[in-house]
Amino acid sequence: MNEITITTATPDDVLDIAKIEKASFSTPWSENAIRESMDAKTHFYVARLDSLVIGYMGISTICGEGYVTNVAVLPEYRRLGAGQKILEHAINTLKDELEFISLEVRVSNAPAIALYEKFGFQNVGIRKRFYTHPDEDAMIMTKNSF
Ligand SMILES: CC(C)(COP(=O)(O)OP(=O)(O)OC[C@H]1O[C@@H](n2cnc3c(N)ncnc32)[C@H](O)[C@@H]1OP(=O)(O)O)[C@@H](O)C(=O)NCCC(=O)NCCS
Repeated sequence: MNEITITTATPDDVLDIAKIEKASFSTPWSENAIRESMDAKTHFYVARLDSLVIGYMGISTICGEGYVTNVAVLPEYRRLGAGQKILEHAINTLKDELEFISLEVRVSNAPAIALYEKFGFQNVGIRKRFYTHPDEDAMIMTKNSF
């Protein structure tokens, strides 16, 4: 039916999440790192197009703070609304337990910055040379109201 659906990820999704990481980042998380970070405080969501996992998001929550660890969509399925749907689902699911959400993003990553701004995230500062491969500053973004 070509419909994008969002669900909570399970350990069965780890391989697909690792594939999306590899296709999206210069220093991708390994399968093990993803599996180990799937704990009670870190929520993973996956986007499926029909049965195919095309995107995912990780967000950890502690004492009212949410921290987005990653959001990514397979390159060939970008601009179909999956990134937006995952973020929307995560925020709606967790908003009652959160006072704010923060994240870092490469300063050159215009698509991701546009996505976050669409959800009301604001630039609150820069972390110098936060990233490697290539070295780059991170923009710190936060969302304080839901
Ligand atoms: C950022 C990312 C997750 C967006 O996923 P996506 O499924 O393509 O995004 P969507 O189709 O849901 O787009 C939602 C909004 O994001 C913004 N956006 C997404 N891609 C964009 C692009 N290439 N250029 C400008 N804005 C873009 C737009 O505001 C868009 O809304 P619109 O369609 O009404 O214009 C995807 O580009 C990606 O996986 N990038 C590589 C991984 C990454 O950098 N993740 C962020 C790490 S901090």
